[in-house]
Amino acid sequence: MIEKIQYDNKKYNFAKVFQEYFEEDLTKLHKKFQFEREFSEMAGGTEEFEIVSQTYTNVIKTSDFNKLWIEFIKEVIKPYFDNKSIYIQKLPSFRIFPAGHSVKYVEETIDGYNKHLDEQPPYYHPKFESSFWIPLVECNYLNDFYYQDEHESYRRADIRINELLIFSSDVIHGNSVHNKSSQTRCSLDFKGLAVDDYDTTMLSDRSILKRGSPFKQKDWYSTKHYYMEI
Ligand SMILES: [Fe+2]
Repeated sequence: MIEKIQYDNKKYNFAKVFQEYFEEDLTKLHKKFQFEREFSEMAGGTEEFEIVSQTYTNVIKTSDFNKLWIEFIKEVIKPYFDNKSIYIQKLPSFRIFPAGHSVKYVEETIDGYNKHLDEQPPYYHPKFESSFWIPLVECNYLNDFYYQDEHESYRRADIRINELLIFSSDVIHGNSVHNKSSQTRCSLDFKGLAVDDYDTTMLSDRSILKRGSPFKQKDWYSTKHYYMEI
């Protein structure tokens, strides 16, 4: 299952938050900042870029952002779960896919795309999670989010700036390895589920790698560690 929902992106203007922080149009970040490398391979992809970890510390972990985030979850995400109690990733991940750069984060790419399921190694995301993906720029066909539809064709999300994507754990997805467009793509993503769907029997002792350190899957995705209840 994959669907788009609309939200008030003037009220929850995440793009503006990051734009003000960088003092730059997000699609032009590749012009303003020097990224450590043009080709990133495996695991976190661009997660280790210094600019990403700095943004996490200087923006996402601030109390202002946290306030906006919790309001957004309550008003936009919770209704999607019929206002039942939900577990939501405490804070979203911020990603940059710089123009002219390449990012390979799967073992083996297919047709030039990072096609994968989030339950695959190295993250082993639990199957009971849904994924949420928020574009912070207008994407084009060269830098968009791609997924496999029910007819097994691989297609772009073609999503607008006031929409977000929700997809279940069985949806194959992943953007192209090369961002051949002239525009950098920035996005937020996070996981969520109804509290009722949390199922410890689907978690195990298997080891997952997070920023180079091993954790047990059941510890990393425990209700206290990874999620907050709203
Ligand atoms: Fe993914």
